[in-house]
Amino acid sequence: MKKILMVSSEAVPYIKTGGLADVAGSLPRYIKREEYDVRVILPKYACMDQCFLPELHFVCHFYVNLNWRKQYAGILKSEYKGVTYYFVDNEFYFAGNSPYNNIYEDVEKFAFFSKAVLMALPYIDFCPDVIHCNDWQTGLVPVFLKTEFYQDNYYIGIKTIFSIHNMKFQGRWNVRDIMDITGLPAGIFTADKLESYGEANYLKGGCVYADIIATVSPSYAADITTPEGGEGLDGLMSARRDSLYGIVNGIDTDDFNPMTDAAMAEHFSVKDAVKGKKENKRALQQSVGLPVKEDVFLIGMVSRLTEQKGFDLLAYVLEEMLTTMRVQFVVLGTGEYRFEEMLQYFQKKYPDKLSAYIGYSEEKAHQIYASCDAFLMPSLFEPCGLSQMIAMRYGTIPIVRETGGLKDTVEPYNEFENKGTGFSFEAYNAHDMLYVIRYAYRVFKEQKKQWEAIMKRAMEQDFSWNASAIKYEKLYDTLIEK
Ligand code: ADP
Ligand code: GLC
Repeated sequence: MKKILMVSSEAVPYIKTGGLADVAGSLPRYIKREEYDVRVILPKYACMDQCFLPELHFVCHFYVNLNWRKQYAGILKSEYKGVTYYFVDNEFYFAGNSPYNNIYEDVEKFAFFSKAVLMALPYIDFCPDVIHCNDWQTGLVPVFLKTEFYQDNYYIGIKTIFSIHNMKFQGRWNVRDIMDITGLPAGIFTADKLESYGEANYLKGGCVYADIIATVSPSYAADITTPEGGEGLDGLMSARRDSLYGIVNGIDTDDFNPMTDAAMAEHFSVKDAVKGKKENKRALQQSVGLPVKEDVFLIGMVSRLTEQKGFDLLAYVLEEMLTTMRVQFVVLGTGEYRFEEMLQYFQKKYPDKLSAYIGYSEEKAHQIYASCDAFLMPSLFEPCGLSQMIAMRYGTIPIVRETGGLKDTVEPYNEFENKGTGFSFEAYNAHDMLYVIRYAYRVFKEQKKQWEAIMKRAMEQDFSWNASAIKYEKLYDTLIEK
């Protein structure tokens, strides 16, 4: 049996702020059980979903040396849908009502987490062949492994994969403090290892020390080797191009299933999607307080409200859209204050056309995916993006900017060849976006049959983990056979 340990700062169903949680919580279930024993390790945050607390069982405790600090680490264990989860407990580090606080606290918190993960292995009696790390929060796992832990025979055969879900967040802080926090030797804070633009950089450390770097779509893998997409690390990404793999995420097709989803007003399949969507659309319009109108073009968004997701483009043309088209918008999200405020302003001004829910709600998210005609995702950059795939699964047509994973998963509608699963635009420009939204609106209104054919094609796409899980198994095997 090959042993894989997935290390992540969030995973569904325990704790989620974004797509990383969906991936860490679903990929392990789709790796072949007969061949691979995949387990997951997470921090035990005070803010995790409290309903799981009774299921966590204490395994052991030990103390983690972080330079002059000696910190308690408890290990708890649970099982969810057949996968074993471990939790690192420390009430000082993992307090608060969000997994992430300010970066200064976070760099220490995740240094602790990374070291605790490695120290836990002999205690939990699970010596993995491969540790699969995710995002900057786990960047120090390969670093600690190769600098400190390799001196111990127990750890010597362990290989690492570092997955980048978002290059924008790198976990950067000044070198002096990080040396003090981690106790890592001064010799590795150099430009070819942990240092980047004068700072210590966890994501860079992960990328330098891991055996393989993975990211979540082939297009994003290419993007991060360029100065435009590399967020300052394009040189390193180009240099490690031979060890860099882009594998598109899957979605959990059980959780997101229009035939069984408990949040929906009526279930539907590809065959009765047109009728089923009408019912759901009516229910959503009613529940969010928009006039119930069947023929209006209902556009949904479920998103972190950040620059990455293209909200500055939306701010630029939203009023023009609301006043010149028969559209309604339903937006669900939290994030930057300026975008929350912008949405609330337009909601007040056009209450019959826009409904904004500032907050986090699984149920509302599912209802928006299931009920809207179109799903807007005009991202500035997008490593993979799960929302557009979820939307397509419910026959909700994505309108996206052609970047990263959006480019790899949405095929633009071609009216001459009757092809395509969505609509897209290339330049990061508000009027290019508006132009494409108007085009989609025309097809929706005037070419019903074509619109329904796009819905059908979108729903028939296979966005499950099936294909991608096999690619991860191959990566694990390459490392194990090395
Ligand atoms: P990212 O990870 O960059 O935020 P993804 O598209 O990969 O983007 O994943 C976002 C995930 O988070 C999706 O499952 C989406 O439905 C969910 N999500 C985002 N915002 C909210 C919200 N306010 N309420 C509920 N779910 C949300
Ligand atoms: C990140 C990216 C998103 C991706 C997700 C899961 O949050 O922004 O594009 O889908 O990670 O990999």
